[in-house]
Amino acid sequence: MPFRISTFLAASALGAAAAAVLAAWHHAWLGAWLGALLWLLLDAWRAQRLLDVLRHDAAGLPSRGPGVWGELSERIRKLLRERDLKIRQAEDRLQEFLAAIQASPNGVVLLDEQGRIEWCNQTAASQFGIDAERDLLQHMANLVRDPAFVAYLASWNYSRDVLIDAPAKAQQHRGQAARLSVQVHPYAGNRRMLLTRDITSLEQAEAMRRDFVANVSHEIRTPLTVLAGFVETLQNLPLEADERARYLGLMAQQSHRMETLVNDLLTLSRLEGSAAPPDRRWTPMRALLAQCEDEGRGLSQRLTSQGHRLSFAIDAASEIAGAPTELQSAMSNLVSNAIRYTPGGGEVAVSWRLLPDGRGEYAVRDSGPGIAAEHLPRLTERFYRVDRSRSRETGGTGLGLAIVKHVAQRHGAELRIESTPGLGSRFALVFPAARLRPASTLSAAA
Ligand SMILES: Nc1ncnc2c1ncn2[C@@H]1O[C@H](COP(=O)(O)OP(=O)(O)OP(=O)(O)O)[C@@H](O)[C@H]1O
Ligand SMILES: [Mg+2]
Repeated sequence: MPFRISTFLAASALGAAAAAVLAAWHHAWLGAWLGALLWLLLDAWRAQRLLDVLRHDAAGLPSRGPGVWGELSERIRKLLRERDLKIRQAEDRLQEFLAAIQASPNGVVLLDEQGRIEWCNQTAASQFGIDAERDLLQHMANLVRDPAFVAYLASWNYSRDVLIDAPAKAQQHRGQAARLSVQVHPYAGNRRMLLTRDITSLEQAEAMRRDFVANVSHEIRTPLTVLAGFVETLQNLPLEADERARYLGLMAQQSHRMETLVNDLLTLSRLEGSAAPPDRRWTPMRALLAQCEDEGRGLSQRLTSQGHRLSFAIDAASEIAGAPTELQSAMSNLVSNAIRYTPGGGEVAVSWRLLPDGRGEYAVRDSGPGIAAEHLPRLTERFYRVDRSRSRETGGTGLGLAIVKHVAQRHGAELRIESTPGLGSRFALVFPAARLRPASTLSAAA
């Protein structure tokens, strides 16, 4: 300020002196007045220039000029620079937040007071089949028209979530039906945040669990009913000794059936819950096949009077790494299926050989009835039987191949099924080379 007053006084004094020198002393006042006017004009021009720059392009502010205007311009420049820095930092933070929400496996949609989309992450966009950019500021209820969802959104009661089918456009995108759980959380007054979760697999698992329990109950109830019937008969009717023996035999059969079922279920749950099979415990293939042969011959004799033409061949003396009991159970399961579903007199050939790429193939081929192509993909499902009545006659519960598949997966093996109705079937387990090694001479001779 003192600078400003002193320049003003200096300008007036200079004007007065100039007038006194150039004209006469009594014109000095006029000179002082002209000097002051000139100063004022210059000052006004500088003020105007600063204002113009501020109005049009604050970035073009002159750095450090003389006097008040120079300092003012410099201070404004500094303030603007600080403000820009703060804005940039706030924007960076916002981008970080949005990136974090983008990375979330859940869908997030932010709605403004009118229920229009302000922002949504990619997960929500694909779950709802909307476009994260094109559909901005669209009303959410116009884009997702599921009546349950629309009613939920309008209710303003968000104490629980709502379950909806993903819109058709989203399903085309995914290629399968999807279920979504959507919950709204109000914030900042009337704004709302929508959180979505894909619960398709959860619902599938729940449906599988229900089916499983229903199947188990059914499988147990059938033999139980039969047993209870026999018990009642034995209690109420005077029976001849041989009739009694026949009934007791049938009862034993049913209780054996239940026992097998429970054992298979326990095996399955053990397979699911236990640690991966060891990859350093070696068992000679020959020993596993010998056990299959013993069991197979016994079963064949028990089931048919004429038996089957059974053959067991080993092409390569190998050892296999894994859990021996699991491997034995899978291999025996395939043999017992072949024998049980192939009528007496039929052929069942079991073999072990190495494939050219080093993998090993355990195969069971039979000349039985074969399986129609439509059943093949479902054979390994729990309780799946091609012909329920026939399988029940032979005591099957439909868990055998589910166990085989589990064991195969745990050992990195592949279960291959080929079958031609009327001609027979071939079930093969192909084990990875990493789990095989040539049998040591000692165990090969054993
Ligand atoms: N070698 C085969 N020939 C013809 N059909 C077969 C053969 N192996 C399996 N199947 C069919 O596949 C179905 C499923 O077999 P899986 O071994 O899983 O069950 P199961 O034999 O019925 O019962 P479980 O093995 O639990 O006693 C069988 O019911 C049968 O219909
Ligand atoms: Mg079976």
